Amino acid sequence: MIIEPKTRGFICLTAHPTGCEQNVLNQIEYVKQRPIKNGPKKVLVIGASTGFGLASRITAAYGSNAASIGAFFEKPPSEGRPASPGWYNSAAFETQAHKDGLYAKSINGDAFSNEIKKQTIDLIKADLGDIDLLVYSLASPVRTHPETGERFKSVLKPIGQTFTDNTVDFHTGEVKEISIAPGTEDDIKNTVAVMGGEDWQMWIDALKSAGVLSEDFKTVAYSYIGPSLTEAVYRKGTIGRAKDHLEATAFKITDALKDINGQAYVSVNKALVTQASSAIPVIPLYISLLYKVMKEEGVHEGCIEQIERLFNARLYAENLELDDAGRIRIDDWEMRDDIQAKVLELWKQATTETLPNIGDLKGYETDFYNLFGFKVDGVDYDKDVNEMVDIPGLQ
Ligand code: NAD
Ligand code: NA
Repeated sequence: MIIEPKTRGFICLTAHPTGCEQNVLNQIEYVKQRPIKNGPKKVLVIGASTGFGLASRITAAYGSNAASIGAFFEKPPSEGRPASPGWYNSAAFETQAHKDGLYAKSINGDAFSNEIKKQTIDLIKADLGDIDLLVYSLASPVRTHPETGERFKSVLKPIGQTFTDNTVDFHTGEVKEISIAPGTEDDIKNTVAVMGGEDWQMWIDALKSAGVLSEDFKTVAYSYIGPSLTEAVYRKGTIGRAKDHLEATAFKITDALKDINGQAYVSVNKALVTQASSAIPVIPLYISLLYKVMKEEGVHEGCIEQIERLFNARLYAENLELDDAGRIRIDDWEMRDDIQAKVLELWKQATTETLPNIGDLKGYETDFYNLFGFKVDGVDYDKDVNEMVDIPGLQ
Protein backbone atom coordinates (compact mmCIF):
# COMPACT_ATOMS: atom_id res chain seq x y z
CA MET A 1 0.00 0.00 0.00
CA ILE A 2 0.94 3.68 -0.18
CA ILE A 3 1.09 5.05 3.35
CA GLU A 4 0.64 8.73 4.08
CA PRO A 5 0.74 10.62 7.37
CA LYS A 6 -2.67 11.09 8.98
CA THR A 7 -2.32 13.51 11.88
CA ARG A 8 -4.77 14.27 14.67
CA GLY A 9 -3.37 16.99 16.91
CA PHE A 10 -0.32 15.65 18.72
CA ILE A 11 -0.37 12.23 17.14
CA CYS A 12 -0.05 10.62 13.78
CA LEU A 13 -2.32 7.63 13.16
CA THR A 14 -0.16 6.02 10.48
CA ALA A 15 3.48 4.97 10.28
CA HIS A 16 5.77 4.12 7.38
CA PRO A 17 7.81 0.87 7.62
CA THR A 18 10.57 1.98 5.23
CA GLY A 19 10.97 5.35 6.95
CA CYS A 20 11.08 3.73 10.39
CA GLU A 21 13.64 1.24 9.09
CA GLN A 22 15.80 4.04 7.67
CA ASN A 23 15.72 5.87 11.02
CA VAL A 24 16.88 2.73 12.81
CA LEU A 25 19.64 2.06 10.27
CA ASN A 26 20.85 5.65 10.62
CA GLN A 27 21.05 5.25 14.40
CA ILE A 28 22.92 1.96 14.04
CA GLU A 29 25.46 3.61 11.72
CA TYR A 30 26.00 6.43 14.21
CA VAL A 31 26.71 4.07 17.10
CA LYS A 32 28.92 1.68 15.13
CA GLN A 33 31.49 4.49 14.78
CA ARG A 34 31.57 4.98 18.57
CA PRO A 35 32.33 1.73 20.40
CA ILE A 36 31.94 1.58 24.19
CA LYS A 37 34.82 0.30 26.32
CA ASN A 38 33.65 -2.18 29.00
CA GLY A 39 30.04 -1.65 27.95
CA PRO A 40 26.99 -3.80 28.76
CA LYS A 41 26.69 -7.36 27.44
CA LYS A 42 23.17 -8.54 28.34
CA VAL A 43 20.54 -5.85 28.38
CA LEU A 44 16.82 -5.48 29.04
CA VAL A 45 15.21 -2.29 27.80
CA ILE A 46 11.69 -1.44 28.95
CA GLY A 47 10.17 1.03 26.50
CA ALA A 48 12.57 -0.18 23.80
CA SER A 49 10.61 0.66 20.66
CA THR A 50 10.81 4.45 20.30
CA GLY A 51 12.58 7.55 21.61
CA PHE A 52 15.25 7.21 24.28
CA GLY A 53 14.57 3.52 24.88
CA LEU A 54 15.11 2.55 21.24
CA ALA A 55 18.30 4.62 21.19
CA SER A 56 19.42 2.79 24.35
CA ARG A 57 18.83 -0.61 22.78
CA ILE A 58 20.72 0.36 19.64
CA THR A 59 23.60 1.85 21.65
CA ALA A 60 24.00 -1.28 23.77
CA ALA A 61 23.75 -3.62 20.79
CA TYR A 62 25.93 -1.78 18.31
CA GLY A 63 28.26 0.05 20.71
CA SER A 64 28.94 -2.98 22.89
CA ASN A 65 27.76 -6.11 21.04
CA ALA A 66 25.12 -6.60 23.71
CA ALA A 67 22.38 -9.20 23.55
CA SER A 68 19.11 -7.33 24.04
CA ILE A 69 15.56 -8.02 25.07
CA GLY A 70 13.17 -5.18 24.29
CA ALA A 71 9.84 -4.76 26.05
CA PHE A 72 7.26 -2.36 24.62
CA PHE A 73 3.57 -1.82 23.94
CA GLU A 74 2.94 -1.42 20.23
CA LYS A 75 0.09 -2.01 17.81
CA PRO A 76 0.71 -4.70 15.17
CA PRO A 77 -0.36 -4.08 11.57
CA SER A 78 -3.49 -5.49 10.00
CA GLU A 79 -4.35 -5.68 6.28
CA GLY A 80 -4.54 -2.08 5.06
CA ARG A 81 -3.77 -0.61 8.50
CA PRO A 82 -0.17 0.18 9.33
CA ALA A 83 1.33 -0.76 12.70
CA SER A 84 2.43 1.84 15.24
CA PRO A 85 5.96 3.20 14.60
CA GLY A 86 7.55 1.31 17.49
CA TRP A 87 6.45 -1.93 15.85
CA TYR A 88 8.26 -1.07 12.63
CA ASN A 89 11.29 0.26 14.53
CA SER A 90 11.59 -3.01 16.46
CA ALA A 91 11.14 -5.07 13.30
CA ALA A 92 13.93 -3.12 11.59
CA PHE A 93 16.23 -3.33 14.60
CA GLU A 94 15.81 -7.07 15.14
CA THR A 95 16.09 -7.88 11.44
CA GLN A 96 19.39 -6.03 11.23
CA ALA A 97 20.65 -7.33 14.60
CA HIS A 98 20.02 -10.93 13.53
CA LYS A 99 21.85 -10.33 10.24
CA ASP A 100 24.77 -9.04 12.29
CA GLY A 101 24.76 -12.04 14.60
CA LEU A 102 23.37 -10.22 17.65
CA TYR A 103 20.84 -11.79 20.02
CA ALA A 104 17.64 -9.68 19.95
CA LYS A 105 14.20 -10.70 21.14
CA SER A 106 11.16 -8.76 22.22
CA ILE A 107 8.02 -8.82 24.28
CA ASN A 108 4.97 -6.77 23.32
CA GLY A 109 2.48 -6.04 26.08
CA ASP A 110 1.78 -4.04 29.22
CA ALA A 111 5.07 -3.80 31.12
CA PHE A 112 3.15 -2.67 34.23
CA SER A 113 1.56 -6.12 34.48
CA ASN A 114 2.80 -9.16 36.42
CA GLU A 115 2.35 -11.36 33.31
CA ILE A 116 4.80 -9.39 31.18
CA LYS A 117 7.33 -9.31 34.02
CA LYS A 118 7.08 -13.07 34.37
CA GLN A 119 7.32 -13.67 30.62
CA THR A 120 10.42 -11.47 30.46
CA ILE A 121 12.09 -13.22 33.39
CA ASP A 122 11.40 -16.63 31.83
CA LEU A 123 13.00 -15.46 28.60
CA ILE A 124 16.09 -14.14 30.41
CA LYS A 125 16.43 -17.43 32.29
CA ALA A 126 16.06 -19.51 29.14
CA ASP A 127 18.32 -17.50 26.85
CA LEU A 128 20.69 -15.23 28.78
CA GLY A 129 20.90 -16.50 32.34
CA ASP A 130 21.10 -12.98 33.69
CA ILE A 131 21.33 -9.32 32.66
CA ASP A 132 23.89 -6.67 33.54
CA LEU A 133 21.85 -3.59 32.50
CA LEU A 134 18.19 -2.63 32.70
CA VAL A 135 17.17 0.58 30.94
CA TYR A 136 13.80 1.83 32.15
CA SER A 137 12.41 4.18 29.47
CA LEU A 138 8.70 3.79 29.73
CA ALA A 139 6.42 6.73 28.93
CA SER A 140 2.73 6.08 29.27
CA PRO A 141 -0.42 8.09 30.00
CA VAL A 142 -2.04 5.24 31.96
CA ARG A 143 -1.18 2.38 34.31
CA THR A 144 -3.26 -0.44 35.72
CA HIS A 145 -1.84 -1.39 39.09
CA PRO A 146 -0.90 -5.10 39.06
CA GLU A 147 -1.94 -5.74 42.67
CA THR A 148 -5.09 -3.64 43.08
CA GLY A 149 -6.32 -3.44 39.47
CA GLU A 150 -6.78 0.31 39.92
CA ARG A 151 -6.36 2.28 36.71
CA PHE A 152 -4.37 5.51 37.01
CA LYS A 153 -4.22 8.33 34.44
CA SER A 154 -1.35 10.78 34.44
CA VAL A 155 -2.00 14.46 33.75
CA LEU A 156 0.20 17.41 32.83
CA LYS A 157 -0.94 20.18 35.13
CA PRO A 158 0.62 22.86 37.33
CA ILE A 159 0.26 22.59 41.10
CA GLY A 160 -1.20 25.35 43.27
CA GLN A 161 -2.09 27.92 40.62
CA THR A 162 -3.27 28.28 37.06
CA PHE A 163 -0.45 28.41 34.55
CA THR A 164 -0.70 30.77 31.60
CA ASP A 165 1.88 31.13 28.86
CA ASN A 166 2.41 30.73 25.14
CA THR A 167 2.58 27.54 23.17
CA VAL A 168 2.69 26.74 19.46
CA ASP A 169 0.58 24.52 17.27
CA PHE A 170 3.43 23.32 15.09
CA HIS A 171 1.08 22.15 12.32
CA THR A 172 -0.14 25.71 11.72
CA GLY A 173 2.71 27.69 13.30
CA GLU A 174 0.21 29.61 15.41
CA VAL A 175 1.58 30.90 18.71
CA LYS A 176 -1.17 31.35 21.26
CA GLU A 177 -1.73 31.65 24.95
CA ILE A 178 -2.97 28.68 26.90
CA SER A 179 -4.10 28.40 30.49
CA ILE A 180 -3.99 25.20 32.47
CA ALA A 181 -5.89 24.89 35.73
CA PRO A 182 -3.96 23.38 38.65
CA GLY A 183 -4.10 19.66 39.33
CA THR A 184 -5.80 18.23 42.41
CA GLU A 185 -4.19 15.99 45.04
CA ASP A 186 -5.68 13.06 43.15
CA ASP A 187 -4.08 14.24 39.89
CA ILE A 188 -0.71 14.30 41.64
CA LYS A 189 -1.22 10.85 43.15
CA ASN A 190 -2.34 9.37 39.82
CA THR A 191 0.55 10.90 37.85
CA VAL A 192 3.06 9.62 40.40
CA ALA A 193 1.45 6.17 40.17
CA VAL A 194 1.94 6.12 36.38
CA MET A 195 5.26 7.91 35.84
CA GLY A 196 6.93 7.61 39.27
CA GLY A 197 9.30 4.87 40.33
CA GLU A 198 6.99 2.18 41.70
CA ASP A 199 6.96 0.05 38.56
CA TRP A 200 10.74 0.39 38.08
CA GLN A 201 11.18 -0.89 41.63
CA MET A 202 8.72 -3.74 40.98
CA TRP A 203 10.75 -4.80 37.94
CA ILE A 204 13.95 -4.81 39.97
CA ASP A 205 12.35 -6.73 42.84
CA ALA A 206 10.98 -9.36 40.44
CA LEU A 207 14.25 -9.71 38.53
CA LYS A 208 16.28 -9.88 41.73
CA SER A 209 14.15 -12.52 43.41
CA ALA A 210 14.32 -14.57 40.24
CA GLY A 211 18.12 -14.39 40.50
CA VAL A 212 18.63 -12.94 37.02
CA LEU A 213 20.69 -9.85 37.92
CA SER A 214 24.44 -10.18 37.45
CA GLU A 215 27.12 -9.01 39.87
CA ASP A 216 27.75 -5.24 39.31
CA PHE A 217 24.33 -4.93 37.66
CA LYS A 218 23.31 -1.39 36.63
CA THR A 219 19.94 0.16 35.94
CA VAL A 220 19.11 3.60 34.58
CA ALA A 221 15.81 5.48 34.21
CA TYR A 222 15.27 8.77 32.41
CA SER A 223 14.16 12.08 33.84
CA TYR A 224 13.79 15.69 32.78
CA ILE A 225 14.29 19.03 34.50
CA GLY A 226 14.24 21.86 31.95
CA PRO A 227 14.31 25.64 32.36
CA SER A 228 12.34 28.02 34.59
CA LEU A 229 10.15 28.75 31.54
CA THR A 230 8.49 25.35 31.69
CA GLU A 231 8.93 24.77 35.41
CA ALA A 232 5.36 25.49 36.53
CA VAL A 233 3.90 23.00 34.09
CA TYR A 234 6.72 20.46 34.05
CA ARG A 235 9.17 20.09 36.92
CA LYS A 236 6.99 21.79 39.55
CA GLY A 237 3.81 20.32 38.10
CA THR A 238 2.19 16.91 38.43
CA ILE A 239 4.74 15.21 36.14
CA GLY A 240 7.57 16.77 38.16
CA ARG A 241 6.22 15.05 41.28
CA ALA A 242 6.40 11.75 39.41
CA LYS A 243 10.01 12.51 38.38
CA ASP A 244 10.86 13.39 42.01
CA HIS A 245 9.50 9.98 42.98
CA LEU A 246 11.42 8.23 40.18
CA GLU A 247 14.65 9.94 41.27
CA ALA A 248 14.11 8.97 44.93
CA THR A 249 13.46 5.39 43.85
CA ALA A 250 16.97 5.14 42.36
CA PHE A 251 18.44 5.38 45.89
CA LYS A 252 16.06 2.74 47.23
CA ILE A 253 16.97 0.38 44.40
CA THR A 254 20.70 0.92 44.94
CA ASP A 255 20.20 0.02 48.62
CA ALA A 256 18.34 -3.13 47.69
CA LEU A 257 21.14 -4.19 45.32
CA LYS A 258 24.03 -3.88 47.80
CA ASP A 259 24.69 -7.63 47.96
CA ILE A 260 25.35 -7.82 44.20
CA ASN A 261 27.11 -4.45 44.12
CA GLY A 262 24.32 -3.10 41.92
CA GLN A 263 23.66 0.55 41.13
CA ALA A 264 20.56 2.45 40.04
CA TYR A 265 20.89 5.78 38.28
CA VAL A 266 18.65 8.45 36.91
CA SER A 267 19.87 10.27 33.84
CA VAL A 268 18.42 13.70 33.16
CA ASN A 269 18.07 13.93 29.40
CA LYS A 270 17.59 16.77 26.95
CA ALA A 271 14.19 17.94 25.70
CA LEU A 272 13.51 16.21 22.40
CA VAL A 273 10.59 15.64 20.07
CA THR A 274 9.13 12.21 20.90
CA GLN A 275 5.58 10.91 21.02
CA ALA A 276 5.60 11.53 24.78
CA SER A 277 6.87 15.13 24.66
CA SER A 278 4.70 16.37 21.76
CA ALA A 279 1.69 16.08 24.05
CA ILE A 280 3.09 18.40 26.74
CA PRO A 281 1.79 21.99 26.54
CA VAL A 282 4.40 24.77 26.11
CA ILE A 283 7.19 22.25 25.43
CA PRO A 284 6.82 22.41 21.61
CA LEU A 285 7.44 26.19 21.63
CA TYR A 286 10.39 25.74 23.99
CA ILE A 287 11.84 22.94 21.85
CA SER A 288 11.52 24.90 18.62
CA LEU A 289 13.50 27.80 20.15
CA LEU A 290 15.97 25.47 21.87
CA TYR A 291 16.67 23.57 18.64
CA LYS A 292 17.39 26.84 16.83
CA VAL A 293 19.89 27.98 19.48
CA MET A 294 21.56 24.57 19.96
CA LYS A 295 21.92 24.03 16.20
CA GLU A 296 23.50 27.49 15.82
CA GLU A 297 25.91 26.68 18.64
CA GLY A 298 26.70 23.27 17.12
CA VAL A 299 25.56 21.32 20.20
CA HIS A 300 22.20 19.95 19.05
CA GLU A 301 21.65 16.24 19.72
CA GLY A 302 18.87 13.75 18.99
CA CYS A 303 18.02 10.62 21.02
CA ILE A 304 20.88 8.54 19.63
CA GLU A 305 23.53 11.24 20.19
CA GLN A 306 22.25 11.72 23.76
CA ILE A 307 22.26 8.05 24.65
CA GLU A 308 25.58 7.26 22.96
CA ARG A 309 27.08 10.09 25.07
CA LEU A 310 25.31 8.78 28.18
CA PHE A 311 26.94 5.35 27.75
CA ASN A 312 30.34 6.47 26.53
CA ALA A 313 30.92 9.58 28.64
CA ARG A 314 28.97 8.74 31.81
CA LEU A 315 27.56 5.27 32.57
CA TYR A 316 30.58 3.30 31.33
CA ALA A 317 33.18 6.03 31.88
CA GLU A 318 35.49 6.65 34.84
CA ASN A 319 33.45 9.52 36.21
CA LEU A 320 29.67 9.76 36.08
CA GLU A 321 29.79 13.47 36.91
CA LEU A 322 26.74 13.21 39.16
CA ASP A 323 25.02 16.44 40.24
CA ASP A 324 24.27 17.46 43.84
CA ALA A 325 21.17 15.28 43.83
CA GLY A 326 23.10 12.23 42.59
CA ARG A 327 21.79 12.35 39.01
CA ILE A 328 23.60 11.90 35.71
CA ARG A 329 23.22 15.04 33.56
CA ILE A 330 23.26 14.71 29.80
CA ASP A 331 21.00 17.74 29.62
CA ASP A 332 24.21 19.67 30.37
CA TRP A 333 24.38 21.32 26.94
CA GLU A 334 20.67 22.22 26.95
CA MET A 335 21.08 23.81 30.39
CA ARG A 336 24.22 25.83 29.57
CA ASP A 337 23.74 29.43 30.79
CA ASP A 338 24.45 30.96 27.39
CA ILE A 339 21.98 28.59 25.65
CA GLN A 340 19.24 29.27 28.20
CA ALA A 341 19.80 33.05 28.10
CA LYS A 342 19.31 33.03 24.33
CA VAL A 343 16.19 30.86 24.52
CA LEU A 344 14.68 33.16 27.16
CA GLU A 345 15.38 36.20 24.98
CA LEU A 346 13.71 34.53 21.97
CA TRP A 347 10.77 33.38 24.11
CA LYS A 348 9.88 37.03 24.80
CA GLN A 349 9.87 37.76 21.06
CA ALA A 350 7.97 34.67 19.91
CA THR A 351 4.74 35.33 17.98
CA THR A 352 3.07 33.60 15.06
CA GLU A 353 4.83 36.14 12.79
CA THR A 354 8.34 35.95 14.28
CA LEU A 355 8.58 32.24 15.10
CA PRO A 356 9.42 30.98 11.57
CA ASN A 357 12.58 33.13 11.76
CA ILE A 358 13.59 32.97 15.42
CA GLY A 359 12.62 29.33 16.05
CA ASP A 360 13.26 26.00 14.36
CA LEU A 361 9.64 25.12 13.61
CA LYS A 362 10.76 23.23 10.51
CA GLY A 363 13.13 21.12 12.60
CA TYR A 364 10.37 20.41 15.09
CA GLU A 365 7.96 19.41 12.35
CA THR A 366 10.50 17.20 10.56
CA ASP A 367 11.39 15.44 13.81
CA PHE A 368 7.70 14.89 14.53
CA TYR A 369 7.06 13.31 11.12
CA ASN A 370 10.29 11.30 11.39
CA LEU A 371 8.93 9.65 14.56
CA PHE A 372 6.36 7.96 12.35
CA GLY A 373 8.76 7.22 9.51
CA PHE A 374 7.66 10.15 7.33
CA LYS A 375 9.79 12.86 5.65
CA VAL A 376 12.87 10.68 6.12
CA ASP A 377 15.71 11.44 3.70
CA GLY A 378 16.24 8.85 1.01
CA VAL A 379 12.84 7.16 1.32
CA ASP A 380 10.60 6.94 -1.77
CA TYR A 381 7.08 7.44 -0.41
CA ASP A 382 5.46 6.83 -3.81
CA LYS A 383 6.64 3.25 -3.75
CA ASP A 384 4.25 0.51 -2.72
CA VAL A 385 5.15 -0.84 0.71
CA ASN A 386 4.09 -3.95 2.63
CA GLU A 387 2.45 -2.91 5.89
CA MET A 388 2.39 -6.52 7.21
CA VAL A 389 5.87 -6.55 8.72
CA ASP A 390 6.85 -9.12 11.38
CA ILE A 391 9.20 -8.53 14.30
CA PRO A 392 11.56 -11.49 13.96
CA GLY A 393 12.43 -11.91 17.65
CA LEU A 394 8.92 -11.30 19.00
CA GLN A 395 7.91 -13.86 21.65
P1 NAD B 1 8.45 7.45 23.88
O1 NAD B 1 6.99 7.73 23.83
O2 NAD B 1 9.24 7.63 22.64
O3 NAD B 1 8.70 5.93 24.38
C1 NAD B 1 7.87 5.27 25.27
C2 NAD B 1 8.14 3.78 25.25
O4 NAD B 1 7.35 3.17 26.28
C3 NAD B 1 7.76 3.06 23.95
O5 NAD B 1 8.70 2.04 23.70
C4 NAD B 1 6.41 2.42 24.29
O6 NAD B 1 6.09 1.25 23.54
C5 NAD B 1 6.65 2.06 25.73
N1 NAD B 1 5.43 1.87 26.52
C6 NAD B 1 4.44 2.76 26.78
N2 NAD B 1 3.50 2.20 27.58
C7 NAD B 1 3.92 0.93 27.82
C8 NAD B 1 3.41 -0.16 28.57
N3 NAD B 1 2.28 -0.06 29.28
N4 NAD B 1 4.10 -1.32 28.57
C9 NAD B 1 5.27 -1.46 27.88
N5 NAD B 1 5.80 -0.45 27.17
C10 NAD B 1 5.14 0.72 27.14
O7 NAD B 1 9.00 8.32 25.09
P2 NAD B 1 10.42 8.99 25.41
O8 NAD B 1 10.30 10.44 25.19
O9 NAD B 1 11.56 8.23 24.80
O10 NAD B 1 10.42 8.81 27.01
C11 NAD B 1 11.14 7.81 27.69
C12 NAD B 1 11.56 8.37 29.04
O11 NAD B 1 12.44 9.47 28.84
C13 NAD B 1 10.39 8.92 29.88
O12 NAD B 1 10.61 8.62 31.23
C14 NAD B 1 10.49 10.42 29.66
O13 NAD B 1 9.92 11.16 30.71
C15 NAD B 1 12.00 10.57 29.61
N6 NAD B 1 12.48 11.83 29.02
C16 NAD B 1 11.95 12.31 27.85
C17 NAD B 1 12.41 13.53 27.34
C18 NAD B 1 11.86 14.11 26.04
O14 NAD B 1 12.03 15.30 25.81
N7 NAD B 1 11.23 13.31 25.20
C19 NAD B 1 13.43 14.24 28.01
C20 NAD B 1 13.96 13.70 29.17
C21 NAD B 1 13.47 12.50 29.67
NA1 NA C 1 11.58 5.19 24.99
